[in-house]
Parts: sequence; structure tokens; C-alpha cells
Amino acid sequence: MTEVRIDKVNKIYERGNVHAVQNLNLQIKDGEFVALLGPSGCGKTSTLRMIVGLEAISSGTIRFDDVIVNDFTPEQRNVAMAFESYALYPNLSIAENLAFPLEVRGIPLSERTKEVNRIAEMLQITELLDQRPGQLSGGQQQRVSLGRALIREPAVFILDEVLSHLDAHLKFQMLFELKKIHYSLGKTMVYVTHDQMEALALSDRVAVMANAKLQQFGNRNELYHKPINRFVADFIGEPSTNFLNARISSVDKKIVLEVNADLRFHPDSRRQDLIKEKGLEEVLIGIRPQYLTLQDGPVKESVTAEVLINEYLGERNILEVKNGSEKFRAVVPPECRAIRGDRVTLFYEPNHVLAFDPQTEECLL
Ligand SMILES: Nc1ncnc2c1ncn2[C@@H]1O[C@H](COP(=O)(O)OP(=O)(O)OP(=O)(O)O)[C@@H](O)[C@H]1O
Ligand SMILES: [Mg+2]
Repeated sequence: MTEVRIDKVNKIYERGNVHAVQNLNLQIKDGEFVALLGPSGCGKTSTLRMIVGLEAISSGTIRFDDVIVNDFTPEQRNVAMAFESYALYPNLSIAENLAFPLEVRGIPLSERTKEVNRIAEMLQITELLDQRPGQLSGGQQQRVSLGRALIREPAVFILDEVLSHLDAHLKFQMLFELKKIHYSLGKTMVYVTHDQMEALALSDRVAVMANAKLQQFGNRNELYHKPINRFVADFIGEPSTNFLNARISSVDKKIVLEVNADLRFHPDSRRQDLIKEKGLEEVLIGIRPQYLTLQDGPVKESVTAEVLINEYLGERNILEVKNGSEKFRAVVPPECRAIRGDRVTLFYEPNHVLAFDPQTEECLL
């Protein structure tokens, strides 16, 4: 069992002088499933490669439990990894590729075969066992590569975009399998993805990265309801958060966030206090489309808007609406038949109105 602790880690690539990871602090608990999530180029793979030992650390320390592993080889660290590029042995069959890590450890043939069959069944690649990597599609090779990592019994699993080449249906099945594997093995897993759905579906906690820096490390509830800044509020959730610039005015000592004369939001009392404390004149409002609803309710406030698009997505619709020059979105039930030009009233709970400092883009939490 292994805890991975990253302290003040930097990665500077001399070639191109890229500061790819800046002052990263991350403590991954023993047995925890953590996703590194962020847009392309934010430093996810660089971080993983430093954890694995494939890339030197420019400064800082990485510990496995209490042992500093900065100078350990990947073998000494005992991590199993699977990357987006499959790196399979082209001259070995799929079965031999899967069995390779077991063979290295001197596991007898009968046991190897049993393990290979078990993993192949789990990843739905049994019928491919006699083929060579060159005969397989990208998604199939990706599953073999994942299988080769899973067949080992390492201290830590490191998985980098391992489901990216799978179609949506298979991806869901594999996410489910990975989750089951994690439950049954209880091993520390670090999973890299730029897909927030994958990250939120799989992980105990998600480390959101952008521009080489960790933005926020938390569980889905924290990321969803208490985003640290605009970036996280925008990146987490689908459809993403609506952002609106508003002036702060005061009515009967209560703060009102005025987007325009006809579009006003009322934050809850806690945020009212935070906004007052900050002494801001303007604020950036964030409100998730899920929290602008068509149903009425006793403690709700409302705004009105004109429908631009009603997008039918099966189990829900997404309305794109406008009020003056402001456009935003709302998630509504599939029964909603509103068409372009209709006016709708959208209700919200004041505690779902997020407020951001317009300069720093930090959320007032
Ligand atoms: N070997 C290298 N030499 C020089 N620069 C590199 C090297 N590897 C990565 N970089 C740069 O470091 C930055 C972070 O790259 P990294 O691969 O860690 O990003 P990522 O978050 O994994 O992105 P993606 O989602 O596209 O895989 C990028 O600007 C990249 O160009
Ligand atoms: Mg990457």
C-alpha cells in the first residue's frame, strides 16, 4: 500500500525552456483513485512521468510513503503504467504481450495463462489473444496496453489517457471495469485525462491543472459546488457554468447583482457578506445551467429570458436564452416545447449564485 506525496515539484524542459509543471503539491492517499484533469499541454503527462520515474524532476521531492524516490528507477518504484500510445511488443502475440510482466517475475505458465484469460475477458479482448498488435485497431491496442498494466501487482497504477481511443459505449464499460478493479485491488491509482466526465466518474478526488499549475484538488462535490476560480467552474460540469458581468447595487441593505436593468440575481446571505467584505463594485456571476430551472418553488428567485435554441438531448433539453445582449443556458426537462422567440421564466436558488472577483477570477467562497 502506497501513499504518493509530491512536494514543490517543478519540471523545466531545457529544450524549448518550457516550465511544464510549476510548484506542484499533491498528496495522494494510500489506495486512493486520483485523476489529473486539465486541458492539453497543462503538464499532466509530465507529472505522471515524474511519478513513474521516466522523467527527472527539476526541483522538489516525490515520496512513496516516507521514502524519497527522486533517484529511483521505474522498476525500483514498482509502478505499473499504461499510456495512450500503446508500446506493445510487435512480434509477440496479444497473449504474450499480456503475459510478459508475469514472465519477468517468474510466474509459472499455468498461472500466467489463467491470469491472461481473466484480464482478457474483463477487457473484452479474448478473441484477440492469438493476434499481433499490428492487426489491432487503436482502441483494441489501448485495451491490451491497459491489460498489461493491470496484470501486474504494483504499488501504484499510473494510467495516461488509456481510454481515449474507445467509442463512447465501450468507454463507459471500461470506466465501470476500472472502477471495479480499483475496488477489488484497493491500490493507489493516478489516472490522467482531459475529459472531465471520465475524471469525475472514476475518481475519489480530482486534481484540476491549467497552465502548469494545480488549480484545485477536491472531490466532485467540492469541484462542482465550491470551485476555487473561474477556470474550475468553467471546466467542470456539462454544459459549463454561465458567466455574467454584474454591477453590485444595494436594495434595502441587501445586495443585488445587476447584469442589466431587466436581469438581476440575488445571492444568498453568505455571499452577500463576502461581496460586502471585498468592497467590490462589480462581480462576475457564475450560475450552472442545471440550477436555472422551469419549475417554481417557495425559496426560489427568477429571471426571464427569450429562447434562442431548444436543444433536445433525450433525457434533458438545453435551452439557450438571451436577455438583452446576455446569452446563457438552462437545463430543462425533455417535455419543454419552448421554441425560438418564446419568453421563459427561469428559477434559481440564491445559494447557487456563485460570485467571482472580476480581476483575480477567484471565487468568493
Ligand atoms: N520532452 C519534452 N521536451 C520539451 N517540452 C516538452 C516535453 N514534453 C512536454 N513538453 C512541454 O511541456 C508542456 C506540458 O506537456 P505535457 O505533455 O505534460 O502536457 P499534457 O497535460 O499531458 O497535455 P496533453 O493533454 O496534450 O497530453 C507542453 O507545453 C509541452 O509542449
Ligand atoms: Mg498528456
